[in-house]
Amino acid sequence: MDVVDVGPILVNRENPVPAGYGDSIDIVNVEVEEGFSVPVEREAAQSYLQMKRYFSALGVRFELLSGYRARQTQERIWNESVAEHGEAHTRCYVAQPGYSEHQTGLALDLTLYDAQGDRVEDDDIEAYGQLFPHLHGFGFILRYPAGKEDVTGYPFEPWHIRYVGTEIAREIYENDWTLEEYVSHVREKSGERR
Ligand code: DAL
Ligand code: ZN
Repeated sequence: MDVVDVGPILVNRENPVPAGYGDSIDIVNVEVEEGFSVPVEREAAQSYLQMKRYFSALGVRFELLSGYRARQTQERIWNESVAEHGEAHTRCYVAQPGYSEHQTGLALDLTLYDAQGDRVEDDDIEAYGQLFPHLHGFGFILRYPAGKEDVTGYPFEPWHIRYVGTEIAREIYENDWTLEEYVSHVREKSGERR
């Protein structure tokens, strides 16, 4: 196996979604509200729903705001952000079309609600923080953690999670790694074995 193919798919500022990748994703629609659904990769969607039930039993409610995005969707988001906030702001927060992990169907944006049913602010770290220790049990990682901006290339996004499966998610969580650090680790190990 080529060293670049080792480990889960890595999409970031340096690594675009591979050409044709979108054609082979098994997408299902996750119902969010009546008449509204969000497309997500099948296995990630199943784990998401399990995680949602788990948190619901603890009295914590969140919904899915965004999952799979076609390149054109990311283009629209990019263009809307440029129109509203300008290009510098957009470059900082929004992935360029072709470079968004959402195009894999494995990245999810959550929106959290408080006990009164009001939407929690995106920067309410305390509220979102109650999710973090439980994500890996369902195969998700916090993709853009605080303090790792230089590694991931993006500011802290407490709402953006990425499905990698429970084994990898646990290893990333226990080592306090990002996906970039996990992939480097796996590639080094695989290089050592050659
Ligand atoms: N906000 C993340 C980086 C994206 O646009 O994919
Ligand atoms: Zn996101």
